[in-house]
Amino acid sequence: MKPPFKIAIAGLGTVGSGVLQLLDRQADLLAQRAARRIVVAAVSARDRRRDRGADLSAVRWYEDAAAMAADPEVDVVVELIGGADGIARQVLDTALDHGKHVVTANKALMAHDGTRLAARAEERGLILAFEAAVAGGIPVIKGLREGLAGNRLERVYGILNGTSNYILTTMRESAHEFAEVLAEAQKLGYAEADPSFDIDGIDAAHKLAILASVGFGRPVDIAGVYAEGIRHVSRLDIDFAEELGYRIKLLGIARLTEDGLEQRVHPCMVPRATPIAAVEGVYNAVVAEGDFVGRVVLQGRGAGAFPTASAVAADLVDIAAGRHVPTFGLHTANLREIPGVPIEGHHGAYYIRLWRASM
Ligand code: HSE
Repeated sequence: MKPPFKIAIAGLGTVGSGVLQLLDRQADLLAQRAARRIVVAAVSARDRRRDRGADLSAVRWYEDAAAMAADPEVDVVVELIGGADGIARQVLDTALDHGKHVVTANKALMAHDGTRLAARAEERGLILAFEAAVAGGIPVIKGLREGLAGNRLERVYGILNGTSNYILTTMRESAHEFAEVLAEAQKLGYAEADPSFDIDGIDAAHKLAILASVGFGRPVDIAGVYAEGIRHVSRLDIDFAEELGYRIKLLGIARLTEDGLEQRVHPCMVPRATPIAAVEGVYNAVVAEGDFVGRVVLQGRGAGAFPTASAVAADLVDIAAGRHVPTFGLHTANLREIPGVPIEGHHGAYYIRLWRASM
């Protein structure tokens, strides 16, 4: 067997703890699949005393995650801090500068800076892996990039934010109001640090921009995504939708038209009989339509410690085993610009609720 593959983890919150537990409990299985052992050599987190459900006594602790990213003993840096700027970006840049592969769950950073980071990794012959950044435990990046490589995609869409889907589902099923359900989602560890990212469609927009890049072979264009969340969806709308035979879902949609690429996130009424209407709670679903394969639906848990850890582990096994494809499926020089279609250019059906105030 090859020498152990040494990893450093930056950020030990919900997902980081899940990754530690998975690596511990599945150590033998992962070693077989990667043909070498995957060991945690270093970690960086604010609170050393918190119980993360795994033994960290033999692991090097760093106060400074960027310093850890330069650790000469480490083969790959796993970034689980989050955020488009600041320390997370510094960790990735430092790791790549020091010749280390990187695995990240950071959708905001990949959406804003993914093309540059991919080019930087390529220049140095390194791998930038990000399965955990989109749709939690669903292998959607690998599914689109590798599984559907024989197709031209026409449309990729889906439920990309578990918190919003959980809120919409729970509001429909229970008598609870929006704020109460959001607080529950936060307690369950689904919501972002800033929950407006979930409920205003920003998190789904990040994921959609990444999917559009993988699906359509274009540079990531977060500025071209129209984002509207579920803040204004009321119980009344949910009840009316039900009466009309629909469910309200927050969808992210990327669609190639004659005019260019539409990228939009907004609440949609989907017919109750369609598979996507049945995707409830924290579950996500991604639908891809290819010219040879037809329609493919991938569904699973889109948030939470263990599903996201499952995606991180898959990336680690690939890298440890030496498997590698370009970050977005194509060398960055071959990603092609596709003009964006603004939301004003979108033609579609609308649901309008008129409310007559009593005089
Ligand atoms: N806040 C995100 C969600 C977490 O609810 O989907 C997973 O990206």
